[in-house]
Amino acid sequence: MKQLLDALSPGDRDWGIAMQLEANRLPGHIAIIMDGNGRWARRRNFPRLAGHKAGVDPVRTVVETCAQLGVETLTLYAFSVENWKRPRQEVEGLWRLLLFYLCRELPNLIRNGIQLAVIGRLESLPSVVQDELRRAIGKTSQNRGMRLNLAINYGGRTELVDAVNSILNNARLEGKLDSLEITEDAISEHVYTAGIRDPDLLIRTSGEMRISNFLLWQIAYAELYITETLWPDFTRADLLEAILEYQNRERRFGGVERSAAPVVDASSLLMEEEEVEMPLA
Ligand code: FPP
Repeated sequence: MKQLLDALSPGDRDWGIAMQLEANRLPGHIAIIMDGNGRWARRRNFPRLAGHKAGVDPVRTVVETCAQLGVETLTLYAFSVENWKRPRQEVEGLWRLLLFYLCRELPNLIRNGIQLAVIGRLESLPSVVQDELRRAIGKTSQNRGMRLNLAINYGGRTELVDAVNSILNNARLEGKLDSLEITEDAISEHVYTAGIRDPDLLIRTSGEMRISNFLLWQIAYAELYITETLWPDFTRADLLEAILEYQNRERRFGGVERSAAPVVDASSLLMEEEEVEMPLA
């Protein structure tokens, strides 16, 4: 947090928002659905790829800002398993942009102690993309700062299928298939994000009210923040606004709010004729 304040100029909008944040209540894991590149381009009569290209700088901004804030994990949805349906030119353009990002940003990731990881089916990507990702992952693997997960060729349902198959394979190898019982813990230990806390805050840009097959298992209790801002226009101030809004929410995880009315004897709330015998186990 101090690192971020040192990087800001007093009086600027992002400085004003940052000053309102509580340093001890920052989200540990932020996940972002970076949406709206196509619309950003269409509004300017540019090809869709120009929108994706304009989306690279906000990636750099959110990575840098989250690292300065001390966020543990940032997960960015860069390419879904459904995105293969897009025109070949667009898909290839996205791989080129990813290679460009890795080439330009790897020194910064290393310098800032950021650990890069990929979640998704890496093995189906073009081999040059796989190689560069593996190289970048290797070069940052000793870093102990923020973990940056790029969700690439990622799908929430695919991930659950992979997790269940992995549990089944392990049980088969250990000869324990007959007695296998799937538990929530077992699934959490086999999803791509095993060992990482679930997202506390999920941000989606461009106003769509959808989850789009992103982190289906992990976002059970994430706070959702949807902004109309298109991804290429997303700034550091927008990110800080989202975190401020997160801090103004009360997370109850299925419980009751701290200031909830006291619990009373439920039967006293029923009318006499409604009273029922309620056998308690
Ligand atoms: C969704 O916008 C965006 C994507 C499918 C790709 C995201 C890619 C980037 C932000 C570029 C660089 C990323 C990295 C990690 C270097 P859309 O095309 O669906 O927008 P639309 O809904 O307006 O058409």
